[in-house]
Amino acid sequence: MTEPTHPKHRLYGRAAGKPLSKRQTGRIETLLPEISIPEGGPHSLQPLALFGGQSPMAPREAWLEIGFGGGEHLAGQAAKNPEAGILGAEPFLEGVAKLLTLVEEGGLGNVRIRRGDARELVEQLADRSIDRAFILFPDPWPKTRHRKRRLIQPDFIAELARVMKPGARLRFATDWSDYASRALADVRRDGRFEWTAERADDWRQSPLDHVTTRYQQKRLGDCEPVFLDFVRRG
Ligand SMILES: C[S@@+](CC[C@H](N)C(=O)[O-])C[C@H]1O[C@@H](n2cnc3c(N)ncnc32)[C@H](O)[C@@H]1O
Repeated sequence: MTEPTHPKHRLYGRAAGKPLSKRQTGRIETLLPEISIPEGGPHSLQPLALFGGQSPMAPREAWLEIGFGGGEHLAGQAAKNPEAGILGAEPFLEGVAKLLTLVEEGGLGNVRIRRGDARELVEQLADRSIDRAFILFPDPWPKTRHRKRRLIQPDFIAELARVMKPGARLRFATDWSDYASRALADVRRDGRFEWTAERADDWRQSPLDHVTTRYQQKRLGDCEPVFLDFVRRG
């Protein structure tokens, strides 16, 4: 299914899936509006303001997960890192419903969601406002003629560089070898991120703080998962 959502961007892939259960529909109607990230102008969103700003209990860091799928990684990180307020973007309704279940069951107050295109959310973010970002197993679009559909493109890397603070960390994971090598080349070409790997195990092994995702478990790619960790240069 192809869904045009924005004059600048086209979304490829599924936006809806199986019909939602009654409880899932209830959460979409009640919990989602409570934790939805409001739309706004370009570069205007200060993410920590979404979490109660000045309160001593409010998160001190803003994290971002792009294309969270069923939300197991996002919810897992939110539970382990209460000091982080985590923003997630995902157009797929069933995935959003799954994350809402995890948010409710885990009592996670540090999650905010945009049901929609992550590129629009990133465009809305203020400069240097994100401490950590994850792009995990994005749609691989393995056919050569579909590569333009991939999320990791030079323009999007430039936008990520804009919104990430100096010293902020970016993690990209894929199990498609061509996507891994092209993403690495594109990020290095941008010049504003440093790849932190010092030895092969640093990208071949799952990082200690990683939470396994559903898509990762499906093993649909042509290689073992590759984890590329970068730091935004100052
Ligand atoms: C292959 S799945 C991986 C999901 C999850 N990260 C995981 O590892 O299980 C890719 C996800 O990216 C989402 N996606 C695709 N284009 C997107 C976009 N422009 N903004 C946000 N999410 C997007 C898809 O809906 C899908 O859920």
